[in-house]
Amino acid sequence: MVSSTKETGTPRRLLVTGGAGFIGSNFVHYWCDRYPEDRVVVLDALTYAGNRANLAALENRENFQFVSGNICDRALIDRLLATENIDTVAHFAAESHVDRSILTPDAFVQTNVVGTFTLLEAFRQRWESVLKPSNESHALFLHVSTDEVYGSLSATDPAFTETTSYTPNSPYSASKAGSDHLVRAYHHTYGVPTIITNCSNNYGPYQFPEKLIPLMCINMLLGKPLPVYGDGQNVRDWLYVVDHCTALDVVIHQSQPGETYNVGGNNEVKNIDLVQMLCQLMDELAPQLPVHPANKLITFVKDRPGHDRRYAIDATKIKTQLGWTPSVTVEQGLRKTVEWYLDRRDWWKPLLSEEYQNYYRQNYDI
Ligand code: NAD
Ligand code: TYD
Repeated sequence: MVSSTKETGTPRRLLVTGGAGFIGSNFVHYWCDRYPEDRVVVLDALTYAGNRANLAALENRENFQFVSGNICDRALIDRLLATENIDTVAHFAAESHVDRSILTPDAFVQTNVVGTFTLLEAFRQRWESVLKPSNESHALFLHVSTDEVYGSLSATDPAFTETTSYTPNSPYSASKAGSDHLVRAYHHTYGVPTIITNCSNNYGPYQFPEKLIPLMCINMLLGKPLPVYGDGQNVRDWLYVVDHCTALDVVIHQSQPGETYNVGGNNEVKNIDLVQMLCQLMDELAPQLPVHPANKLITFVKDRPGHDRRYAIDATKIKTQLGWTPSVTVEQGLRKTVEWYLDRRDWWKPLLSEEYQNYYRQNYDI
């Protein structure tokens, strides 16, 4: 893989939105380690899901800057693009949790649709006035999206490809679909150099404990019930977050503008089987926990409204065009992840705030 500096002799200057969240912070760590000459500016509103502590190890680096702010703030974005001379936007900022989108959809439309539009408009103007006239070869707006825009599959349907029609079913996936359409239109209409990636369920370090895997790990550590929605037979494809970062790396360095790529982990698992795997790992790695075996805590709860049955990614395009494949199996990735949550009580304990408890009570009806 070529380094961004070697490519043209000049470092990239990235604006990473949502860089204090789960995938964004993993990406920022990955990028700063791999491409230390590149400048990385993180813009993050530090919502409940954003955590500056995720970036603590980078705060004193010369080529790193954290900016607290909202992607809907056009004046701030214009200023950052200009003063930091940004050529690459890596756009992760979003409201990202399906259950919250069912309870409070407003923020999803605001951040995911209006926020993406605001960023796109600012980047379009910068591209037209500065990047394009100067033949800036790094110029890129990378939009990180989800496989959920494609809707739900039956057990026998073929996996999603880049040409599968959009059929979003939740306010979250509908708002991400809206943002994808805007990004696509900005390339088609204005020629803005954009790329869209649609990935499957990520997991790994720094994931907020509302999502399935960290929620199960933390509830096991606290001896709390493990809430499995419906019959537990829903299927997700699981992508280790560092594999996602390597996929974004090849996309940024090798893809043509206007492309879209599906990114998957090649790991389709039923929810109940995944939870059982997590329980077995926890039994092995933390045998001293009060509830043993941990699967005694599994509790089937009321299903999520509109719950998509199955997601599956066909990642042939990124494999054949860009040579990317995931390197971590679900067994390896889950082990690393359980170890991380066991080690990092200091990270997750402060997140179980009053806001989190309120959300938990509302969502799980307890
Ligand atoms: P996350 O919820 O962990 O982090 C989102 C980050 O965005 C937070 O740091 C938050 O503070 C910030 N943010 C939210 N609203 C903002 C705003 N208006 N302005 C600036 N910052 C704001 O999300 P994640 O899991 O890291 O997901 C990152 C991206 O990847 C999202 O676009 C999501 O749709 C997409 N995605 C996630 C997954 C997954 O499994 N987590 C799967 C597919 C796609
Ligand atoms: P989640 O991590 O919320 O990701 P997404 O809904 O974006 O796929 O959920 C993954 C799967 O796990 C999904 O089918 C819903 C299910 N789930 C539960 O069964 N219980 C839970 O408490 C949570 C959060 C999710």
